[in-house]
Amino acid sequence: MEIQQNISLKPYNTFGIHTNAKRFVTVNSVKELKEIITSEKDIFLLGGGSNILLTGDVEKLVIHLNTKGIIVNDFDENEVLITAEAGENWHELVLWCISQNYGGLENLALIPGNVGTSPIQNIGAYGVEIKDVFKQLEALEIATGNTKIFTNADCDFGYRNSVFKNELKGKYIILNVTFKLTKKNHNINISYGAIKDLLADKKNPSIKDIADAVIAIRQSKLPDPKKIGNSGSFFKNPVINSDLYKELSEKHPEIPHYSISENEIKIPAGWLIEQCGFKGKRFGDAGVHEKQALVLVNYNNATGKEIYGLALEIQQKVMETFKISLEIEVNVI
Ligand code: EPU
Repeated sequence: MEIQQNISLKPYNTFGIHTNAKRFVTVNSVKELKEIITSEKDIFLLGGGSNILLTGDVEKLVIHLNTKGIIVNDFDENEVLITAEAGENWHELVLWCISQNYGGLENLALIPGNVGTSPIQNIGAYGVEIKDVFKQLEALEIATGNTKIFTNADCDFGYRNSVFKNELKGKYIILNVTFKLTKKNHNINISYGAIKDLLADKKNPSIKDIADAVIAIRQSKLPDPKKIGNSGSFFKNPVINSDLYKELSEKHPEIPHYSISENEIKIPAGWLIEQCGFKGKRFGDAGVHEKQALVLVNYNNATGKEIYGLALEIQQKVMETFKISLEIEVNVI
């Protein structure tokens, strides 16, 4: 393992932000990772770099986790357990599962990032979250070098949330993740409007049909990080109480909303940001995507601070206009 000095992190984060890592190492096995963490405690772990906004140079040792491998174990007649190493690319895993006719991940096609970071924010899209197919993960405790298995309950998954964003933040490195997928009688989920519409004339859509529909929808409104730097949804969709919803819906009867419980209503942050006039706006190289206002973009040379400044401006305007606090979903570093 070679520790490199002064490496630009631009190729390692989907926002395409250039900042400098003082020291950088690529780790290709768990053995190498264990070796590194016995001698280095001040570390910054980099997975697919798809959920971070870098606002300055990184002084800690940056560890680029690049472990690969997929293991298949039969669970029963209907189901299979797939264990993927943390450094596997998420979308490639989804495509591989579809090629093997393993069902469960198809709604999560084309989400940027790696397997190892997928549980941290419980990635989700089009009616499915990974908690729905998650069996367990194995993680390395940084302080002790011991490994531990986390079950679904241990991870305490929530909407774009898990124990690894809270109590255990920065304490563990996820080594591999096991999913329980179907071999037949797939649990097809086409509840999400746009998928249902695209598959309207398919009688029994296959998992591949669903993945194709998801890919088409994502490509039509989400920017490709290879072309325009971004980190997917920058904010979470806020949940408001019914009094505030009532007040807002009198002024804006068209406000999109999803009931979560009697007193909790989720409002798409993209709509709020669009109403505040930010959609498609560009300030230097930092901007708000023209087709989905929830996605902040780096047209090329924006700094993390510029993107963050834009995010603060959006938060302030949404608060003034709607009395709603938008929570940032991306990890700002
Ligand atoms: N909308 C607008 N203007 C916009 C964007 C959205 O008015 O610019 C309104 C529309 O009414 C639309 C509604 O918001 O019907 C919902 O929009 P969309 O279907 O695009 O979904 P979202 O709630 O904005 C969430 C996830 C996405 C995920 C999609 C589909 C969060 C924070 N984001 O977005 O996740 O792909 O649903 O399931 O929950 C991500 O996390 O990076 C991500 C892309």
